[in-house]
Amino acid sequence: MTQITIRRPDDWHLHLRDGNMLQAVAPETARHFERAIIMPNLVPPVVTGAQASAYRDRILATLPEGSRFEPLMTLYLTEDTDAEDLARAHADGLIKAVKLYPAGATTNSASGVKNFDTVRPVLEKMAEIGCPLCVHGEVVDDDIDIFDREAVFIDRILDPLRQATPGLRVVMEHITTAQGAAYARSGGKDLGATITTHHLVINRNAMLVGGIKPHYYCLPVAKREEHRLALRKAATSGEACYFLGTDSAPHLDGAKLSACGCAGCFTATNTLSILAEVFEQDGALDKLEGFASLNGPAFYGLPVNTGTLTLTKGDPVTYPEKIVTPEGDVTVFDPMMPLHWRVD
Ligand code: DOR
Ligand code: ZN
Repeated sequence: MTQITIRRPDDWHLHLRDGNMLQAVAPETARHFERAIIMPNLVPPVVTGAQASAYRDRILATLPEGSRFEPLMTLYLTEDTDAEDLARAHADGLIKAVKLYPAGATTNSASGVKNFDTVRPVLEKMAEIGCPLCVHGEVVDDDIDIFDREAVFIDRILDPLRQATPGLRVVMEHITTAQGAAYARSGGKDLGATITTHHLVINRNAMLVGGIKPHYYCLPVAKREEHRLALRKAATSGEACYFLGTDSAPHLDGAKLSACGCAGCFTATNTLSILAEVFEQDGALDKLEGFASLNGPAFYGLPVNTGTLTLTKGDPVTYPEKIVTPEGDVTVFDPMMPLHWRVD
């Protein structure tokens, strides 16, 4: 096969930031994607409907003339979240989900949840109104090794939380382990999982062998090869519970290449070429459309996009190594392999 046409894809987990960074990175996603679930971990975080509405306007203002890109907004769950404000924003169609960060788990998560009992009434309201909860699934306990944080979160937090809140729809964001893939598969219609582009390509060796590679540092951190293979199997399986959420997370190079570097891989620019390469390697090009364009809308109860996107195979395609912003550069994820699929 040398050409493939799929429904226009969506990104079900994206960081666009704000200000100059937003201006620089929004067109990178809007070029290929029709919609994206926008993460609310700004500083300060997006916690109210009014803030989500204002952020949405700032995103729309950065889009190129004629862009059809639609940002799907989220609220950042805190221990003070107002369930009525949340329900109103959901009923108005302004927000499509709420994001749960355990406090301290990742970038700008300080306002996240420490005591999960305090958010129980909000979660019950979300179950009642059908608003999905997007979960950053890592425990933050000092005694848990960083490579085990996802698997422990499923047992200690996620499964009890789901059992206690029947009907709550949950997306396990950016799963990185075989345990995450297995749990997502076992959860029925109310459970889904996003998988990033980079976790299909890198294992922890990519980050740590032959010198530390800050551009491959993200959270949850890439795991052993057996887990990457489990994610590849899940993503290319065509099963409805798995869909694309790039977690494309831009940081200035200065913030990445530091003694305490930020977590995040910036994949918005070349994601579709990488995915086509990955799915082709696994003999599953026919499953790419489900993963990138169909399974996500089905989970969120949204229509599939009407437009299409065509990828053509040929000589290796090159992408810019960096995206320039007035404050500095953002390095585009290097997949460490030639990419042969060009987005037409
Ligand atoms: O690598 C990551 N970067 N993981 C996250 O959970 C947050 C994100 C960011 O905002 O930079
Ligand atoms: Zn993220």
